[in-house]
Amino acid sequence: MSRTLWVLGNFKQNLLHAQVLDHLQALAPATAALRNTHSSLRVGIAPSFVSVQAARAQVPSEPNPVQVLAQNVAAQEQGAYTGEVSAPMLKAVGCDLAIIGHSERRTLFGESDATVAEKVAQCAQAGLGIVLCVGESLAQREAQTHVEVVTQQLKAALARFPQDSEVPLILAYEPVWAIGTGRSATPQQAQEMHAHLREELTRLDPQRGSGRSILYGGSVKPGNAAELLAAGNQIDGFLVGGASLDPTSFTAIAQAASEHLSQ
Ligand code: PGA
Repeated sequence: MSRTLWVLGNFKQNLLHAQVLDHLQALAPATAALRNTHSSLRVGIAPSFVSVQAARAQVPSEPNPVQVLAQNVAAQEQGAYTGEVSAPMLKAVGCDLAIIGHSERRTLFGESDATVAEKVAQCAQAGLGIVLCVGESLAQREAQTHVEVVTQQLKAALARFPQDSEVPLILAYEPVWAIGTGRSATPQQAQEMHAHLREELTRLDPQRGSGRSILYGGSVKPGNAAELLAAGNQIDGFLVGGASLDPTSFTAIAQAASEHLSQ
């Protein structure tokens, strides 16, 4: 089964609103050209909440050369939760997908597997696409528990995702020790974990698991994108942090994905 290849940029707490729109203005034409060549390639950006609506409005929804993502979403549908932004709110302003369970949310903001699962349930209910992040810490990898840790994160999150849901769900494997460190997983390490995640996804969801995209994230750059994509056809694109902030380097990563599809 051929799967969609995604190149997604997570801006984190970077770029002011005008900078997001400038970035998008540079990115959209380049991306539209790549998408004209490969309809199974999708590019997206996750700016801060304050720029989601305007970013969505700036790119035409058809053919939608750039998807707009939220970096986070509330675990509750509505109510007295000061500072939270719900899945229906994001959906209502045209947001395409929400990133859930990013390691910075898990480690810096104390999000547990249970919270991540609630967020998955909220998105599924609101019809908002999901980019679910899983990944082990350096200590966990050194202790050789990485496979177990990541499997548990996946199982816990999918427990709240209805099997018959039509909501897009993308998985992102992001080893914590590779995020923002300049030290990417080797193609072999990524390939091994992706193969395992593919097996688990298919076991947990026999109908759709094999068709879901599994992205890699952690120090992806124009210089290592091609070799990661070549790793046994297991990696269906990237979730990019630092290198996504510059439209030129982000476009170069999307270009590598396009070239991979041409091979
Ligand atoms: P990085 O971040 O590309 O800067 O390592 C990846 C991520 O956090 O998604």
